[in-house]
Amino acid sequence: MSEIKTILDLQFKEFISPDVIAKRVHEIAQSLNEHFAGAEEITVLITLKGAFIFAADVVRQLNIPMRIEMIRASSYRGGTISTGVVMTDPLIGDYAGKHILIIEDIIDSGRTITELKSMLETANIASCTIVSLFSKPDQHQIDLSTAYIGFTIPAVFIIGYGLDYQEQGRELPGIWQCID
Ligand code: IMP
Ligand code: MG
Repeated sequence: MSEIKTILDLQFKEFISPDVIAKRVHEIAQSLNEHFAGAEEITVLITLKGAFIFAADVVRQLNIPMRIEMIRASSYRGGTISTGVVMTDPLIGDYAGKHILIIEDIIDSGRTITELKSMLETANIASCTIVSLFSKPDQHQIDLSTAYIGFTIPAVFIIGYGLDYQEQGRELPGIWQCID
């Protein structure tokens, strides 16, 4: 029997092991190195809190001159279903003319990434590239054809590797899936 973890009122089973995540993160970093080869400088915009571990692992494998910024963005407010209301901090820093790499943990309804992109567009950026470790395509109609996606997953609720359920589980090295 595989291990079950109980967090508050929910139960989780292992979905993606730390090794599998590490291999995929390495591949994504190589793709980003190719994408940005020769770039003078990029601005990495990390969405907090969920992307903090993924971002830490990715940026250490990039060989591109970069500045790092962080923004708090959330559409969950504690539950397991996107609320439809995206709360973001204002953009701090000078983004005009910059090549931006948004690092996201997961694209679910797609509202967070849409909101972030429109904030950046009004800041007159030079380009915007998106990397997200996970995407739940059943949940959104966002065109991610130019985005870098680690894993395409079904509409399951997951925790670990930065992702939380009511602020619990971010520290787990692998990804765990809610069992219903
Ligand atoms: P969206 O705006 O609906 O695309 O939601 C994106 C945000 O919701 C992510 O950045 C996460 O913080 C959170 N989220 C979406 N799906 C999950 C999940 O399965 N587990 C934990 N957080 C999630
Ligand atoms: Mg997030």
